[in-house]
Order: sequence, then C-alpha cells, then structure tokens
Amino acid sequence: MTRLKQRPHLREFDDPEERDRPLPRLLLFLVPFMMLWGGYYIATMDTTADPTLGDGRTRTALMPAVGGGAANGAQLFTTKCAACHQSAGQGVAGVFPPLAASEWVTGSERVLVQILLHGIQGEITVKGVRYNGLMPPWKSLTDEEIAAIATHIRSQWGNGASPVTAATVAAEREATASRSAPWKGESELSALK
Ligand code: HEC
Repeated sequence: MTRLKQRPHLREFDDPEERDRPLPRLLLFLVPFMMLWGGYYIATMDTTADPTLGDGRTRTALMPAVGGGAANGAQLFTTKCAACHQSAGQGVAGVFPPLAASEWVTGSERVLVQILLHGIQGEITVKGVRYNGLMPPWKSLTDEEIAAIATHIRSQWGNGASPVTAATVAAEREATASRSAPWKGESELSALK
C-alpha cells in the first residue's frame, strides 16, 4: 500500500450523484397528477352526498340539539327574529314593530302564520304606529318550526294567545303555496281574516 492510498480522502467512496439513481420518472408524473386530482375532487365535491359514505353523520346531527329534537320556539326566536324584533319583543321604534302586545301576534293565528310564511313589504300599523319596512319570509322553515315560533311569541312578554299547531301551519302553507311575493302590507293581510 503506497503512502498515497493511506490518505483518508482517497479511502472514501465518491459522493453519490443523482445520475446514478435519478428520481423515478413515474413519481415525477404521479405527484403533480395526484395534486391536480385532489384539487379537482375538492372543487367538484358533492356536499349533499349520502353521509353514510363518509363518517355517517348527517347535517342535522351536526347542528346543536334544539330542545331534544323538537322545534324550540324560544331558541328559534333568538336566532331568527330577535335581531330585528329584539329579545324582549319590544322592536325598535319606527323601524321594527313590537311583537309584545301586538294585535297581529295575538290576533288571528292564520294571519300570523301567513306573515311568517311570506313576510311583509308594505304599510302596516302596529299598536297605533305605522311601519313600512320589510319583514323577510320564513317559508324555508318547517311547519313544526313556524308553529313553535308562533306559539312562543303568542305566549311571551304578557301575550296570552292560544298555541299554534304544525297542522295549522301546513294548511296555511298549502292554501298559499303559489304565492312568491311578500304580503303587501296590512290591506292585503286584513283581507285574509
Ligand atoms: C330583517 C328584520 C326582521 C326579521 C329578522 C324578522 N322581522 Fe318581523 N318584521 C320586520 C319588519 C320591518 C316588519 C314590519 C313590516 C312592514 O313594515 O311592512 C315586521 C313585521 C312582523 C310582524 C307583524 C307586525 C307585528 O309587529 O306584530 C310579525 C308578527 C313579525 N314581524 C314576526 C317576526 C318573527 C316571528 C320573526 C322571526 C321568525 C321575524 N318577524 C323576523 C322585520 C323583521
């Protein structure tokens, strides 16, 4: 063995070079392909697909429980109505009419249900004050939910009117099924009574 060969750097192997074992071609194609496919899959994903194919939980199961499954009027009122009519049903002077002691709330249950189903756009007088705003329609809610809200507001804040059943809501919904516009104020609503 010559002295030269004993030099440490000459005993080492050469550093590996990529040329010897290049990245497999297949991988070079596979990785971008999988990323593109992932993007495509997310973009075109059907969010209404059968949940049993996933972890089995339905959209309703993921929503906070409402009074043990049945529609909870108080909770629905807080989430859907209180922003405008206020939590004590007193409304906002001149803008959102009160529900407390309102003749529309404690009066005909049919008219009340119609107000909730289709909303109002036009003049309406509540407790002697004239309003001309926009009350949104709530027909996307179920019969049980509308009945629960109606029953709630008819029994709160000193209101003492009878409960409203889901069957009443179903009948009223059926009777005005072809309607798509809100009620045009109290003239049209009074004609319903
Ligand atoms: C975006 C605000 C808004 C929301 C949310 C809203 N309302 Fe109204 N509501 C109004 C306005 C404004 C009027 C008056 C309509 C008009 O002037 O034409 C009204 C009118 C009413 C009336 C008839 C008048 C009265 O005061 O008695 C009732 C009953 C009523 N709303 C109940 C409800 C209930 C129940 C909910 C929840 C499901 C609800 N509203 C959600 C704005 C709202």
